[in-house]
Amino acid sequence: MSKVKFYSGENVPLEMHKVRIIQKLDLVPIDRRLQAIKEAGNNTFLLKNRDIFLDMLTDSGVNAMSDQQLASMMVADDSYAGSESFTRLEQKIEEIFGMKYFLPVHQGRAAENIISKVYVTPGSFVPMNYHFTTTKAHIVLNGGTVEEFITEEGLKFNSDHPFKGNMDTVALQKLIDRVGASKIAYVRVETGTNLIGGQPHSLENLREVSGICKKNGIKLVFDASLLADNLYFIKAREESCKNKSIREITREISDLCDIIYFSARKLGCARGGGICSRNHDDYMKMRELVTLYEGFLTYGGMSVREIEAMTVGLEETMDENMVNQGPQFIEFVVNELHKAGVPVITPAGGLGAHINAGAFVSHIPQSEYPAGALAAALYLVGGIRGMERGSISEQRDADGNETYANMELLRLAAPRRVFTLSQLKFVVDRIIWLYQNRELIGGLKFVEEPKMLRFFFGKLEGTTGWHEKLVAKFKADFGDSL
Ligand code: F0G
Repeated sequence: MSKVKFYSGENVPLEMHKVRIIQKLDLVPIDRRLQAIKEAGNNTFLLKNRDIFLDMLTDSGVNAMSDQQLASMMVADDSYAGSESFTRLEQKIEEIFGMKYFLPVHQGRAAENIISKVYVTPGSFVPMNYHFTTTKAHIVLNGGTVEEFITEEGLKFNSDHPFKGNMDTVALQKLIDRVGASKIAYVRVETGTNLIGGQPHSLENLREVSGICKKNGIKLVFDASLLADNLYFIKAREESCKNKSIREITREISDLCDIIYFSARKLGCARGGGICSRNHDDYMKMRELVTLYEGFLTYGGMSVREIEAMTVGLEETMDENMVNQGPQFIEFVVNELHKAGVPVITPAGGLGAHINAGAFVSHIPQSEYPAGALAAALYLVGGIRGMERGSISEQRDADGNETYANMELLRLAAPRRVFTLSQLKFVVDRIIWLYQNRELIGGLKFVEEPKMLRFFFGKLEGTTGWHEKLVAKFKADFGDSL
């Protein structure tokens, strides 16, 4: 992967774009931040944008668009049926993925709804490298069972394995032998595996999975939402791909799959989604559900402006300078934190930096939500909004007992092309300060706990008065700095 080198030898990621439109940001004073996080019930989903300095909640629907994308939105062809904008997108999809059929949907989970409704039957299995929340919900809703076959390395906090998102193909074959191929709805590979820290799979691993699917007559469904990051890692880390273009690697991936779906809130830096297939039968089965749930076949719930932006965004994703933006900046944050002794998931993945909250605030028991507490504390000291990816994001079992997460993580997403290096240095600086003062962070307890999706709407409070103590230490160390 080509990278501009610095004479000093320093490993600095470089923005290969210039900023031409800006949005003003405010870092509100810490007393306001204290009030804001309490109003939000210590839940970063409930913070208001006006109180946030750096929004690292997600990379979904918040990536910066290019001038070409914005320009394309002005020539969008608005019509209920037969829009030229859709034809342009369909052609781009065929050119990039080599798949003839394309169905538009309003976002990634809408594609999951349609694919699950068509292929998942009660009692069937969907093996995959790892689940994503919405994916699993749709499969379970249709009576299927998710079987996760992430390799052992994938669940280690620290590793030097270049492809922690790989699927364990031996385990996959064993399931097929045990239940029979007819019981498998499809095999799903999620590229840039989200919930284990944006970790990639290799092209070689996908080839093995595809081989098993073909041998057993099972469809391979590929969730390409985080494809941009995974393409970067394949080119940078897989020996046999070093001299291949991003476009060539993309085509090799898609040639191995039967159905590709994606959230265009991530892939293509727009808002929307789609399902690509190479088989007329598959297309016909899914087509009627698109008109039922999403909209007519030439918009699928999307604005035609977003369709134009997606077409340009997909083309731009075939550029090395585009796909390296996320991972190289994330790697910078992860490496700086790691050097300072802060527990982070290594190696750096795509999507964002992931802090091991379980180790960061090891004095907070899982029953007091260490990842949620760390998310609240980071907002307090830096106006930085991350996402809890730990036990608050899990659900209680049927008897009302907690089901604790395997990993207590704080995710700091890096929307593509949005933050500058100095903003990321600020993030690193505040996290290091917080780590040195971690004993001051206390636990959380629910005051409002919804039964469903409690991480979105739940409200919590500190188990002790730790917020005020943290604010007092901040003021002592930072004086009148924001
Ligand atoms: N698949 C993956 C791998 C995802 O990361 C997401 C969304 C979806 C499917 C669903 O797509 O949001 O457009 O409906 N991930 C977002 C996130 C929500 O913040 O990680 P969607």
